[in-house]
Amino acid sequence: MNKRVLMLGLAVMLVMSGFAAISGFSQDEVNYVRDSAFGVRIRGMVPFVHDEHNEKAGTEDCTICHHVYEGGERLEFETSEDMECSECHMAGGKDEMDLMRAYHLNCKGCHEERKAGPVMCGECHLE
Ligand code: HEC
Ligand code: HEC
Ligand code: HEC
Ligand code: HEC
Repeated sequence: MNKRVLMLGLAVMLVMSGFAAISGFSQDEVNYVRDSAFGVRIRGMVPFVHDEHNEKAGTEDCTICHHVYEGGERLEFETSEDMECSECHMAGGKDEMDLMRAYHLNCKGCHEERKAGPVMCGECHLE
């Protein structure tokens, strides 16, 4: 693991363990995906215990999800962890990748690829 990723990991652990008040981040631990760009939702909430999930799944590279692209290339050391996915992927957008599709491709895509993690609607969305 490279140092930058390790530092980011440590930084997040600090945030999660009580430094939230003085850090830039407003929320406590992430336990659900709740993108503010969706209006009235069709499906139920999606539980996602951020740190626990990423530890179990072995996805410590933040840029798998919080990526930044430049000229069509995913940058290795840039993260967009301070942004919601919807700041780049529009809900109902046409030119950019649609927000729902972006979530499904990211979450379900990896679960399918690794043959681990939920892939059925009702396994992710609560009723
Ligand atoms: C498997 C995908 C995934 C990985 C890997 C991941 N995250 Fe996240 N992260 C998310 C999702 C999804 C959210 C919540 C988005 C929402 O609801 O808007 C989030 C939210 C956050 C937030 C915002 C928390 C808040 O209080 O609002 C921070 C900060 C963050 N992640 C940092 C990181 C860091 C640092 C790493 C790497 C150590 C990382 N994430 C790895 C998916 C991921
Ligand atoms: C800073 C802007 C930005 C943010 C924030 C962002 N993305 Fe992206 N994302 C992009 C761009 C640009 C591409 C490349 C699109 C293309 O090639 O058409 C992309 C590609 C993707 C892809 C397809 C390629 C891949 O890596 O699998 C998925 C899936 C995706 N994003 C999901 C997400 C999710 C989920 C989040 C939030 C955790 C997120 N994105 C946050 C800009 C962003
Ligand atoms: C890069 C791969 C990857 C991505 C991206 C990913 N997951 Fe997972 N996820 C996994 C793996 C691997 C497991 C199985 C972990 C285990 O139990 O061994 C898993 C397990 C889960 C589980 C089962 C309970 C748990 O926490 O272990 C849920 C729920 C889940 N993922 C939701 C999500 C959601 C929602 C997203 C998108 C925001 C997402 N995952 C993105 C790899 C990924
Ligand atoms: C691996 C987890 C996962 C699976 C499986 C999954 N989704 Fe999602 N879905 C998500 C996440 C994460 C979001 C973003 C949730 C949010 O921000 O509230 C989402 C968003 C949505 C949205 C847009 C928000 C809303 O409720 O209107 C719809 C519609 C949706 N999913 C339908 C489905 C359907 C239908 C299936 C089965 C064919 C499915 N999903 C399977 C994770 C999943």
